[in-house]
Amino acid sequence: MKFNILVVDDELNIRVGLGKSLEMDGYSIFLAEDGNEALKVMLKVEIDLVISDLRMPGLSGEELLKKISNSYPTVPVIILTGHGTVENAVNAMRDGAYDFMTKPVNLDRLTLLVKRALSSRELVLQHRALKEEVEKLEKKRNYSNIIGKSAQMQKIFELLVQVAPSKASVLITGESGVGKELVADALHQLSTRGDQPFVKVHCAALSESLLESELFGHEKGSFTGAVGLKKGRFELADRGTIFLDEIGEINQSVQIKILRVLQEKAFERVGGEKTVQTDVRIVAATNRDLKKEIEDGNFREDLFYRLNVVNIHIPPLRERKEDIQLLAASFLNEFAEENNKSIEGIDPKAAMALYNYSWPGNVRELRNCLESAVVLCKKHIISIDDLPPALTEEPEGNYIKITMGISLAEAEKIIIRNTLNQEKGNKSKTADILGIGRKTLHRKIHDYGLEDEFLR
Ligand SMILES: Nc1ncnc2c1ncn2[C@@H]1O[C@H](COP(=O)(O)OP(=O)(O)OP(=O)(O)O)[C@@H](O)[C@H]1O
Ligand SMILES: [Mg+2]
Repeated sequence: MKFNILVVDDELNIRVGLGKSLEMDGYSIFLAEDGNEALKVMLKVEIDLVISDLRMPGLSGEELLKKISNSYPTVPVIILTGHGTVENAVNAMRDGAYDFMTKPVNLDRLTLLVKRALSSRELVLQHRALKEEVEKLEKKRNYSNIIGKSAQMQKIFELLVQVAPSKASVLITGESGVGKELVADALHQLSTRGDQPFVKVHCAALSESLLESELFGHEKGSFTGAVGLKKGRFELADRGTIFLDEIGEINQSVQIKILRVLQEKAFERVGGEKTVQTDVRIVAATNRDLKKEIEDGNFREDLFYRLNVVNIHIPPLRERKEDIQLLAASFLNEFAEENNKSIEGIDPKAAMALYNYSWPGNVRELRNCLESAVVLCKKHIISIDDLPPALTEEPEGNYIKITMGISLAEAEKIIIRNTLNQEKGNKSKTADILGIGRKTLHRKIHDYGLEDEFLR
């Protein structure tokens, strides 16, 4: 990446001198003699870093800093100050300057500072690239907002396009939060029924009797409270798609009725005699293992085969970690916009934590995590402090911290001492765990000066 640096100073010598030195470090340099001129340059060129003097005629460094913080919040500003004005520099830090340097400028220190300041700028640009990738993906698949570049998700996209136009029943399986409902949406949108009703039924949310009248409707007076005729969801979905969410939760009598709709495209309303014809495409979803439910006698095998003409299985997020970065970038943009915040990236530590976490709640949990991170974030980049503690806690188990830079012998000593401690000094158990003989263990205890602790 070639970065553009803007040097602002009213003294020609300083401006040109700093510019030359930074140019030799491989940056593109732009020069301005006061704040106003600097702003003009920034309108024309995308500047990645500003180095500015404080005292200048025209628009001063302080005022320039304020304008940049407002209009270009992710562009770092390094302030230059003469002797005796350090106090002003401290104020500037409070106003959002990245750092300050006193004149005469130490060029080596400047090089370091510039490098450091640009590393966070690099994150911003990386995030922008991801954002563009998300947008491109969305354009390519104008039918849905399902994001994913993993091989598994690519396969699902292919399957979707292939299956959607048919009338085949589809069973979507996968853990909670993997995106089953999104896929059901896409199936409907992509089908020839896209402009017809898409009716969703959350089967687990309704009691048995309510579910039956919800699905199939009821005749007037069929039970107390049934004041008028009510059309059921199967009738409302006529010519469209019905989405039966959490199908694993329905009872046997509703299972039989649904089976009949699949076989005969007909049903009766609750308390009614008349047969109602309907033409619906059935998409069902579950996070249960229906095969096991069949074995346990909770789910009808014949219904399973009718529903499962095509199976779309969405793997958990931990099995397609390549999707995490893209999903996170997309949720970040969504929530930054919703909360009117200019957050333009995720720092490497936080990104690593997102990647390493196992996401038991899958994409839904990732989405919630980014929403809270955006709300908590006080800067322009999400950092590890903005993430929930669960993501940064060490996984369960006993750990030994070994700092980089120590010798193999030192590491061995630490491992032996900790294992002995864990085994309460039992040498044969410790030797077993470490995969060495008892004699070797004794020798090492001696060599590492651990006798006082363990050989009494
Ligand atoms: N691939 C994806 N791209 C973008 N957003 C996604 C993706 N997968 C899931 N989401 C989002 O994650 C959340 C959960 O997805 P959804 O409700 O479809 O999951 P589900 O599998 O139906 O979960 P449950 O079994 O708990 O009902 C939603 O906000 C959804 O928009
Ligand atoms: Mg769902």
